[in-house]
Amino acid sequence: METTPWWRDAVVYEIYVRSFADASGDGTGDLAGIRDRLPYLAELGVDAIWLTPFYPSPMADGGYDVADYRDVDPLFGSLADFDDLVADAHAHGLRLMVDIVPNHSSSAHPWFQKALASPRGSQERERYMFRDGGPEGGGSGHGEPNNWLSTFGGPAWTQVPDGQWYLHLFAPEQPDFNWRNPEVREEFLDVLRFWLDRGVDGFRIDVAMGLIKAEGLPDTDPGFTSRSPIWSRPEVHDIYRDWRRVLDSYPGTRVAIGEVWTDSAEDLALYVRPDELHQSFNFAWLEAPWSATAFRKVIDDTLKAVASPTWVLSNHDVVRHVTRYGQGSLDPGAGLARARAALLAMLALPGSAYLYQGEELGLPEVTDLPPEARQDPIFARSNGEVPGRDGCRVPLPWSGTEPPYGFGSGGSWLPQPADWTDLTAERQAADPSSTLWFYRRVLQTRRELRGTLPDAITWLESPEETLLFQRGRLICVINCGEGAVALPPHDQVLITSGPLDGAALPADTAAWLLTG
Ligand code: GLC
Repeated sequence: METTPWWRDAVVYEIYVRSFADASGDGTGDLAGIRDRLPYLAELGVDAIWLTPFYPSPMADGGYDVADYRDVDPLFGSLADFDDLVADAHAHGLRLMVDIVPNHSSSAHPWFQKALASPRGSQERERYMFRDGGPEGGGSGHGEPNNWLSTFGGPAWTQVPDGQWYLHLFAPEQPDFNWRNPEVREEFLDVLRFWLDRGVDGFRIDVAMGLIKAEGLPDTDPGFTSRSPIWSRPEVHDIYRDWRRVLDSYPGTRVAIGEVWTDSAEDLALYVRPDELHQSFNFAWLEAPWSATAFRKVIDDTLKAVASPTWVLSNHDVVRHVTRYGQGSLDPGAGLARARAALLAMLALPGSAYLYQGEELGLPEVTDLPPEARQDPIFARSNGEVPGRDGCRVPLPWSGTEPPYGFGSGGSWLPQPADWTDLTAERQAADPSSTLWFYRRVLQTRRELRGTLPDAITWLESPEETLLFQRGRLICVINCGEGAVALPPHDQVLITSGPLDGAALPADTAAWLLTG
C-alpha cells in the first residue's frame, strides 16, 4: 500500500520538448526523441517527467500559444506517438505530466478566429476578453480599455478592425480567455479528461494565477504584485476546485501543479488547500541570490506556509542557475560548484523538486546567441533590449564533438556553442567526476533515504554564510562563504557536491552526512 502519495517527494524532470531530442531530423525536438531517451531519464533517477506544450501551435511563444488542445503538432509527432510515449514512460517507471495552458489560446484557435469574425457582444466574443476602448486609454493616449501591460512588453491590448480591443497578458498571438464564461470552464474540464483518459499522471498549469481578472478591469499599478486586478483573484480558486474533482474521479493519483508567481509563501499556500491543486511551484529559491541568509529565509518561509513544498532552481523561463550563481564571482568554476551545492541542499529538504533538462549536465546559459537566431517574443517585443529566454532553451548536447552533438540529424533550431563537447551526456557518462554522475548519485541516495526521514527539519548552529540542518538521520551543510569550514560531527559522509578539503568543507560546496 502506498503510504505517501507519489508526488509529495517526487523529483520531476522538465522536458522543454523543442530542445530535448530530435528523432525526425528537422532540428526541433519531438515526442519520439523523448521516447528514445527514456532509458537515460530512468537511469538519471527521476520519478516523473513534465512535457512543455506539444499541441498544434503557430509557435509564437514556443507552443504556449495553443491552437488545438486535443492534438499533437506535426512538428512534435502525433497522438499515436504520445500514446506510445505514455506507455513507454510508465514501463520505465516514470510518471508523465503535461502542460495545460488555460489563461490564453493561440490567436489561430478556431474560437478566436470565430470571435474575430463575429460582432461585438456576440457569444463568440464572450469566450475572450473583448472590450471597447476608453477615451483615457489607460493613460497611453491610444484608447486602450485600461493601462494593463503585457508581460512580454507593450500594452496588453490589441485593437481589431471594428474598433474593439482584446486582452493578451502575453503576446498579441495569445488572447486571454474569459474564465467567467461557463463555456470556457466546461471546455477545459473536457480537455483535462481528454489527457487523463490517455493516461497522463498530471498537469502543470501555465500562468495558474492569471485566469480571473478583477470585475470592471480597473487600472493597475505598473510592475508585478501578486495582489492586483490581474493576478491571484479570489475566484480563481473555484476553478481549481472543479479541476480537483475531475482529477480525483480518475483511478490512481492524478495531480496538478500550478505555475504561480507570488510575492509571498502565504499567497502560494492558498492554491494548495486540500480541495485545490496538489502543488504550486515555489520560485522563491530560484529568485534568491547565492547566499546562506537568503536560502535560510526561503526555506523557513516556505516550510512555515506550505505543507507539501516544491523546490526549483531553473526552468525554461529563467537564466540557468550555473550562470546566475557564477555572476559576481572571480572564480570561473564557481557557478557550477554552487549549482551542485544548491542541488544537494534543495534535495535534502522535505517536498518535491523540479529539475530542468540540462541542469544534470551543468549546462550554462548561452548568452551570445546571434540576434537573428533568437525566437523568444520577448526579444522582438523589446526591440532586442531584453535578450529573453532562448539562452536556457538551447538544444541539449548528447554526444559527439560538434553541433548538433547528437541532438538530431538535422541541426538544431537554436545554435549550440562550439565548446560543449565536454558537456555532452556521452562524455559525462564516462567520467565519474562529472555533474551527470553527481546527479545520478544524489537521486539514487535520495531514493534510498525515501520514507525514512521526517518532514520537519531542525536548524543547527553553524558559521556565518553556511547553513546546517538536520532531518532525522540526515545532516545537510552548505557553505556559501569564502573559506573552508569544519564539517559538523557525523558518522558517515554520504555525498558531497565537490571534493572535501581534508575534514573541511570548502567554499561553494555542500555535503550530506549521516548521524545516529
Ligand atoms: C508561462 C510559461 C512561459 C510562457 C508564458 C505564457 O510563464 O512558462 O514559457 O511564455 O507562461 O504562456
